[in-house]
Amino acid sequence: MRPAVCALELYPDRLRLLDQRRLPLEETYVDCYSHHEVAEAIRSLVVRGAPAIGVAAAAGIALGVRQLRPEDDFPAAFAAICETLAQTRPTAVNLFWAIARMRACVERHQGAPLPELQRLLMAEARRLLEEDREICRRIGEHGLSLIPPRSTILTHCNTGALATAGIGTALGIIRAAHYGGRQVHVLAGETRPVLQGARLTAWELQREGIPVTLITDSMAGSLMAQGRVDLVLVGADRIAANGDVANKIGTYSLAVLAQAHRVPFYVAAPLSTIDANTASGAQIPIEYRAADEVRKVGDRYIAPPEVEVENPAFDVTPAHYIRALITEAGIAMPPTAETLAALQRAAASS
Ligand code: MRU
Repeated sequence: MRPAVCALELYPDRLRLLDQRRLPLEETYVDCYSHHEVAEAIRSLVVRGAPAIGVAAAAGIALGVRQLRPEDDFPAAFAAICETLAQTRPTAVNLFWAIARMRACVERHQGAPLPELQRLLMAEARRLLEEDREICRRIGEHGLSLIPPRSTILTHCNTGALATAGIGTALGIIRAAHYGGRQVHVLAGETRPVLQGARLTAWELQREGIPVTLITDSMAGSLMAQGRVDLVLVGADRIAANGDVANKIGTYSLAVLAQAHRVPFYVAAPLSTIDANTASGAQIPIEYRAADEVRKVGDRYIAPPEVEVENPAFDVTPAHYIRALITEAGIAMPPTAETLAALQRAAASS
Protein backbone atom coordinates (compact mmCIF):
# COMPACT_ATOMS: atom_id res chain seq x y z
CA MET A 1 0.00 0.00 0.00
CA ARG A 2 1.77 3.16 -1.24
CA PRO A 3 0.29 6.46 -0.06
CA ALA A 4 -0.66 8.98 -2.72
CA VAL A 5 1.55 11.64 -1.11
CA CYS A 6 5.15 11.59 0.06
CA ALA A 7 6.67 14.00 2.60
CA LEU A 8 10.37 13.14 2.26
CA GLU A 9 12.62 11.80 -0.48
CA LEU A 10 16.26 11.16 0.30
CA TYR A 11 18.80 11.50 -2.53
CA PRO A 12 22.59 11.04 -2.19
CA ASP A 13 23.13 14.83 -2.14
CA ARG A 14 19.86 16.23 -0.73
CA LEU A 15 16.63 15.74 1.19
CA ARG A 16 13.59 16.78 -0.80
CA LEU A 17 10.68 17.85 1.38
CA LEU A 18 7.11 18.56 0.39
CA ASP A 19 6.60 22.08 1.78
CA GLN A 20 3.79 21.51 4.28
CA ARG A 21 3.54 25.21 5.09
CA ARG A 22 2.02 25.80 1.66
CA LEU A 23 -0.43 22.93 1.52
CA PRO A 24 -3.16 22.51 0.44
CA LEU A 25 -3.01 25.47 -1.96
CA GLU A 26 0.46 24.87 -3.38
CA GLU A 27 2.34 21.62 -3.87
CA THR A 28 5.96 22.73 -3.83
CA TYR A 29 9.18 21.13 -2.67
CA VAL A 30 12.18 22.34 -0.67
CA ASP A 31 15.58 20.79 -1.40
CA CYS A 32 17.92 20.68 1.62
CA TYR A 33 21.61 20.09 0.91
CA SER A 34 23.01 20.83 4.38
CA HIS A 35 22.16 20.09 8.01
CA HIS A 36 21.46 23.81 8.50
CA GLU A 37 18.82 23.72 5.77
CA VAL A 38 17.24 20.58 7.26
CA ALA A 39 17.24 22.15 10.76
CA GLU A 40 15.48 25.24 9.42
CA ALA A 41 12.95 23.07 7.57
CA ILE A 42 12.11 21.22 10.81
CA ARG A 43 11.90 24.43 12.85
CA SER A 44 9.66 26.20 10.33
CA LEU A 45 7.34 23.16 9.81
CA VAL A 46 8.23 22.47 6.18
CA VAL A 47 8.41 18.94 7.57
CA ARG A 48 6.54 18.00 10.75
CA GLY A 49 5.08 15.04 12.60
CA ALA A 50 7.22 13.07 15.04
CA PRO A 51 8.41 10.17 12.83
CA ALA A 52 9.07 12.46 9.83
CA ILE A 53 11.05 14.84 12.03
CA GLY A 54 13.22 11.89 13.15
CA VAL A 55 13.87 10.73 9.59
CA ALA A 56 14.61 14.30 8.45
CA ALA A 57 17.08 14.81 11.31
CA ALA A 58 18.93 11.59 10.42
CA ALA A 59 19.12 12.73 6.78
CA GLY A 60 20.30 16.16 7.95
CA ILE A 61 23.17 14.58 9.87
CA ALA A 62 24.18 12.48 6.87
CA LEU A 63 24.09 15.58 4.63
CA GLY A 64 26.09 17.62 7.16
CA VAL A 65 28.78 14.94 7.36
CA ARG A 66 28.79 14.70 3.56
CA GLN A 67 30.03 18.31 3.44
CA LEU A 68 32.98 17.71 5.83
CA ARG A 69 36.53 17.59 4.50
CA PRO A 70 39.30 15.20 5.62
CA GLU A 71 41.14 18.05 7.38
CA ASP A 72 38.11 18.84 9.61
CA ASP A 73 38.06 17.74 13.25
CA PHE A 74 35.44 14.99 12.75
CA PRO A 75 34.33 14.43 16.39
CA ALA A 76 33.82 18.17 16.99
CA ALA A 77 32.12 18.76 13.64
CA PHE A 78 29.86 15.72 14.07
CA ALA A 79 28.85 16.83 17.59
CA ALA A 80 28.01 20.31 16.27
CA ILE A 81 25.89 18.90 13.43
CA CYS A 82 23.94 16.69 15.88
CA GLU A 83 23.47 19.62 18.26
CA THR A 84 22.11 21.89 15.49
CA LEU A 85 19.42 19.32 14.75
CA ALA A 86 18.71 18.60 18.43
CA GLN A 87 17.93 22.31 18.95
CA THR A 88 15.09 22.41 16.41
CA ARG A 89 12.01 21.17 18.29
CA PRO A 90 11.90 19.88 21.89
CA THR A 91 8.83 17.66 22.24
CA ALA A 92 8.89 14.89 19.61
CA VAL A 93 11.30 12.35 21.07
CA ASN A 94 11.76 10.66 17.68
CA LEU A 95 14.11 13.54 16.86
CA PHE A 96 16.46 12.64 19.72
CA TRP A 97 16.01 8.92 19.09
CA ALA A 98 17.11 9.37 15.46
CA ILE A 99 20.11 11.49 16.47
CA ALA A 100 21.10 8.77 18.97
CA ARG A 101 20.92 6.19 16.15
CA MET A 102 23.27 8.28 14.02
CA ARG A 103 25.68 8.76 16.97
CA ALA A 104 25.67 5.01 17.63
CA CYS A 105 26.52 4.40 13.97
CA VAL A 106 29.60 6.61 14.30
CA GLU A 107 30.59 4.92 17.58
CA ARG A 108 30.41 1.49 15.93
CA HIS A 109 32.83 2.65 13.24
CA GLN A 110 35.20 4.81 15.25
CA GLY A 111 38.41 5.54 13.39
CA ALA A 112 36.94 4.75 9.96
CA PRO A 113 38.07 7.14 7.19
CA LEU A 114 35.75 10.07 6.39
CA PRO A 115 34.45 8.71 3.03
CA GLU A 116 33.50 5.48 4.79
CA LEU A 117 31.67 7.36 7.59
CA GLN A 118 29.88 9.48 4.99
CA ARG A 119 28.69 6.36 3.20
CA LEU A 120 27.67 4.61 6.43
CA LEU A 121 25.71 7.59 7.77
CA MET A 122 23.82 8.07 4.52
CA ALA A 123 22.99 4.35 4.56
CA GLU A 124 21.81 4.62 8.18
CA ALA A 125 19.55 7.58 7.35
CA ARG A 126 18.07 5.61 4.46
CA ARG A 127 17.57 2.60 6.78
CA LEU A 128 15.66 4.80 9.25
CA LEU A 129 13.42 6.00 6.44
CA GLU A 130 12.73 2.49 5.19
CA GLU A 131 12.20 1.14 8.71
CA ASP A 132 9.65 3.87 9.36
CA ARG A 133 7.74 2.75 6.28
CA GLU A 134 7.60 -0.82 7.57
CA ILE A 135 6.72 0.32 11.12
CA CYS A 136 3.74 2.28 9.80
CA ARG A 137 2.58 -0.74 7.83
CA ARG A 138 2.69 -2.89 10.97
CA ILE A 139 0.92 -0.28 13.11
CA GLY A 140 -1.81 -0.30 10.45
CA GLU A 141 -2.08 -4.09 10.61
CA HIS A 142 -2.30 -4.21 14.42
CA GLY A 143 -4.72 -1.31 14.62
CA LEU A 144 -7.17 -2.94 12.22
CA SER A 145 -8.46 -5.19 15.01
CA LEU A 146 -9.84 -2.12 16.83
CA ILE A 147 -11.80 -0.70 13.90
CA PRO A 148 -15.44 -1.83 13.55
CA PRO A 149 -16.72 -2.69 10.03
CA ARG A 150 -18.50 0.69 9.83
CA SER A 151 -17.17 3.54 11.90
CA THR A 152 -16.81 7.26 12.19
CA ILE A 153 -13.34 8.05 13.48
CA LEU A 154 -12.37 11.40 14.94
CA THR A 155 -8.71 12.30 14.48
CA HIS A 156 -6.58 15.31 15.34
CA CYS A 157 -3.63 17.02 13.68
CA ASN A 158 -1.98 15.03 10.86
CA THR A 159 -0.56 11.57 11.46
CA GLY A 160 -0.41 10.32 7.89
CA ALA A 161 2.02 10.04 5.01
CA LEU A 162 2.79 13.71 5.61
CA ALA A 163 3.97 12.96 9.17
CA THR A 164 5.96 9.78 8.48
CA ALA A 165 7.92 8.07 5.73
CA GLY A 166 5.10 5.56 5.24
CA ILE A 167 1.31 5.36 5.42
CA GLY A 168 1.21 7.08 8.81
CA THR A 169 0.38 6.01 12.36
CA ALA A 170 -3.24 6.86 13.25
CA LEU A 171 -3.95 7.62 9.58
CA GLY A 172 -2.03 4.44 8.70
CA ILE A 173 -4.64 2.45 10.63
CA ILE A 174 -7.40 4.40 8.89
CA ARG A 175 -5.76 3.64 5.51
CA ALA A 176 -5.44 -0.05 6.41
CA ALA A 177 -9.11 -0.11 7.43
CA HIS A 178 -10.25 1.64 4.23
CA TYR A 179 -8.24 -0.63 1.94
CA GLY A 180 -9.21 -3.64 4.07
CA GLY A 181 -12.88 -3.09 3.16
CA ARG A 182 -14.06 -1.35 6.33
CA GLN A 183 -16.42 1.58 5.82
CA VAL A 184 -14.60 4.33 7.64
CA HIS A 185 -15.55 7.98 7.70
CA VAL A 186 -13.02 10.38 9.19
CA LEU A 187 -13.86 13.50 11.16
CA ALA A 188 -10.76 15.68 10.91
CA GLY A 189 -10.45 18.32 13.62
CA GLU A 190 -8.99 21.46 12.05
CA THR A 191 -6.25 21.67 14.74
CA ARG A 192 -5.84 25.35 15.55
CA PRO A 193 -3.57 27.24 15.33
CA VAL A 194 -1.41 25.68 12.58
CA LEU A 195 -4.38 23.82 11.03
CA GLN A 196 -2.65 20.51 10.35
CA GLY A 197 -6.10 18.86 10.34
CA ALA A 198 -7.69 21.29 7.90
CA ARG A 199 -4.72 21.90 5.64
CA LEU A 200 -3.01 18.50 5.73
CA THR A 201 -5.29 15.66 6.91
CA ALA A 202 -8.28 16.81 4.86
CA TRP A 203 -6.01 17.14 1.80
CA GLU A 204 -4.22 13.83 2.33
CA LEU A 205 -7.44 11.86 2.82
CA GLN A 206 -9.16 13.50 -0.14
CA ARG A 207 -6.16 12.62 -2.31
CA GLU A 208 -6.57 9.02 -1.23
CA GLY A 209 -10.34 8.92 -1.68
CA ILE A 210 -10.99 8.22 2.02
CA PRO A 211 -14.25 9.87 3.16
CA VAL A 212 -13.49 12.86 5.37
CA THR A 213 -15.48 15.64 7.00
CA LEU A 214 -13.66 18.67 8.38
CA ILE A 215 -14.84 20.06 11.72
CA THR A 216 -13.60 22.87 13.92
CA ASP A 217 -11.96 21.69 17.13
CA SER A 218 -14.82 23.02 19.25
CA MET A 219 -17.41 20.78 17.53
CA ALA A 220 -15.99 17.50 18.88
CA GLY A 221 -17.95 17.41 22.15
CA SER A 222 -21.28 18.12 20.53
CA LEU A 223 -20.73 15.40 17.91
CA MET A 224 -19.82 12.90 20.61
CA ALA A 225 -22.92 13.85 22.61
CA GLN A 226 -25.01 13.11 19.50
CA GLY A 227 -23.44 9.63 19.25
CA ARG A 228 -21.78 10.50 15.96
CA VAL A 229 -18.21 9.47 16.91
CA ASP A 230 -17.39 5.75 17.26
CA LEU A 231 -13.78 6.19 18.28
CA VAL A 232 -11.01 8.75 18.57
CA LEU A 233 -7.65 7.85 17.04
CA VAL A 234 -4.61 10.14 17.35
CA GLY A 235 -0.81 10.01 17.16
CA ALA A 236 1.85 10.95 19.71
CA ASP A 237 5.00 13.03 19.94
CA ARG A 238 6.34 11.52 23.14
CA ILE A 239 5.00 8.80 25.42
CA ALA A 240 6.31 8.74 28.98
CA ALA A 241 7.25 5.45 30.64
CA ASN A 242 3.92 5.42 32.52
CA GLY A 243 1.88 5.78 29.30
CA ASP A 244 1.11 9.51 29.48
CA VAL A 245 1.02 10.92 25.93
CA ALA A 246 2.19 14.28 24.62
CA ASN A 247 0.50 15.11 21.32
CA LYS A 248 -0.78 18.13 19.42
CA ILE A 249 -2.54 20.73 21.56
CA GLY A 250 -6.22 19.81 21.81
CA THR A 251 -5.61 16.07 22.19
CA TYR A 252 -6.18 16.21 25.95
CA SER A 253 -9.57 17.91 25.50
CA LEU A 254 -10.60 15.15 23.07
CA ALA A 255 -9.53 12.46 25.55
CA VAL A 256 -11.58 14.01 28.37
CA LEU A 257 -14.59 14.41 26.07
CA ALA A 258 -14.21 10.83 24.85
CA GLN A 259 -14.21 9.52 28.40
CA ALA A 260 -17.27 11.60 29.32
CA HIS A 261 -19.14 10.14 26.34
CA ARG A 262 -17.75 6.58 26.67
CA VAL A 263 -16.08 6.79 23.26
CA PRO A 264 -12.88 4.72 23.00
CA PHE A 265 -9.76 6.87 22.76
CA TYR A 266 -6.77 5.24 21.01
CA VAL A 267 -3.20 6.40 20.37
CA ALA A 268 -1.02 5.01 17.56
CA ALA A 269 2.76 5.49 17.57
CA PRO A 270 6.01 3.69 16.87
CA LEU A 271 8.01 2.32 19.82
CA SER A 272 10.57 5.07 19.12
CA THR A 273 8.00 7.55 20.48
CA ILE A 274 8.16 5.90 23.92
CA ASP A 275 10.67 7.69 26.11
CA ALA A 276 11.69 5.26 28.85
CA ASN A 277 13.80 8.03 30.44
CA THR A 278 10.77 10.24 31.10
CA ALA A 279 8.80 8.87 34.03
CA SER A 280 5.52 10.71 33.45
CA GLY A 281 3.91 13.34 31.28
CA ALA A 282 4.81 16.08 33.76
CA GLN A 283 8.46 15.79 32.67
CA ILE A 284 7.80 16.05 28.92
CA PRO A 285 9.15 19.34 27.54
CA ILE A 286 6.38 21.22 25.76
CA GLU A 287 7.28 23.41 22.80
CA TYR A 288 5.93 26.96 22.84
CA ARG A 289 5.69 28.55 19.42
CA ALA A 290 5.43 32.11 18.08
CA ALA A 291 2.43 34.20 19.19
CA ASP A 292 1.59 35.13 15.60
CA GLU A 293 0.58 31.51 14.89
CA VAL A 294 -2.47 32.30 17.07
CA ARG A 295 -2.97 35.95 16.13
CA LYS A 296 -2.89 35.27 12.39
CA VAL A 297 -4.46 32.94 9.88
CA GLY A 298 -2.07 32.79 6.95
CA ASP A 299 -0.72 36.32 6.49
CA ARG A 300 -3.71 38.08 8.05
CA TYR A 301 -4.24 39.11 11.63
CA ILE A 302 -7.48 37.80 13.11
CA ALA A 303 -6.75 39.36 16.53
CA PRO A 304 -5.26 42.63 17.77
CA PRO A 305 -1.59 42.39 16.72
CA GLU A 306 -0.38 43.20 20.24
CA VAL A 307 -2.72 40.91 22.21
CA GLU A 308 -1.01 38.57 24.66
CA VAL A 309 -1.05 34.97 23.46
CA GLU A 310 -0.53 31.49 24.91
CA ASN A 311 0.73 29.03 22.29
CA PRO A 312 1.84 25.62 23.55
CA ALA A 313 2.14 23.30 20.53
CA PHE A 314 1.41 20.15 22.56
CA ASP A 315 -0.50 18.93 25.61
CA VAL A 316 -0.29 15.84 27.78
CA THR A 317 -3.05 13.24 28.03
CA PRO A 318 -2.76 11.12 31.18
CA ALA A 319 -2.54 7.39 30.44
CA HIS A 320 -5.82 6.58 32.23
CA TYR A 321 -7.80 8.29 29.45
CA ILE A 322 -6.26 6.03 26.80
CA ARG A 323 -7.98 2.73 26.00
CA ALA A 324 -5.04 1.37 23.96
CA LEU A 325 -1.71 2.29 22.42
CA ILE A 326 -1.10 0.69 19.03
CA THR A 327 2.54 0.15 18.04
CA GLU A 328 4.41 -1.89 15.43
CA ALA A 329 5.03 -4.57 18.10
CA GLY A 330 1.39 -4.92 19.11
CA ILE A 331 -1.20 -3.23 21.29
CA ALA A 332 -0.77 -2.07 24.90
CA MET A 333 -4.30 -2.21 26.34
CA PRO A 334 -4.37 -0.15 28.47
CA PRO A 335 -0.99 1.60 28.23
CA THR A 336 0.78 1.29 31.59
CA ALA A 337 4.44 1.07 32.63
CA GLU A 338 4.05 -2.74 32.54
CA THR A 339 2.29 -3.11 29.18
CA LEU A 340 4.69 -0.65 27.50
CA ALA A 341 7.76 -2.41 28.92
CA ALA A 342 6.35 -5.78 27.77
CA LEU A 343 5.94 -4.46 24.20
CA GLN A 344 9.49 -3.15 24.21
CA ARG A 345 10.82 -6.47 25.48
CA ALA A 346 8.88 -8.35 22.81
CA ALA A 347 10.28 -6.06 20.10
CA ALA A 348 13.84 -6.40 21.42
CA SER A 349 13.68 -10.20 21.42
CA SER A 350 12.13 -10.56 17.94
O1 MRU B 1 3.60 20.28 15.33
P1 MRU B 1 3.49 19.04 14.52
O2 MRU B 1 2.66 19.19 13.29
O3 MRU B 1 4.85 18.41 14.25
O4 MRU B 1 2.71 18.02 15.48
C1 MRU B 1 2.42 16.73 15.01
C2 MRU B 1 1.61 15.92 15.94
O5 MRU B 1 1.28 16.33 17.03
C3 MRU B 1 1.29 14.51 15.52
O6 MRU B 1 0.06 14.11 16.05
C4 MRU B 1 2.38 13.56 16.03
O7 MRU B 1 3.66 14.04 15.71
C5 MRU B 1 2.23 12.20 15.48
S1 MRU B 1 2.59 12.12 13.75
C6 MRU B 1 2.54 10.48 13.27
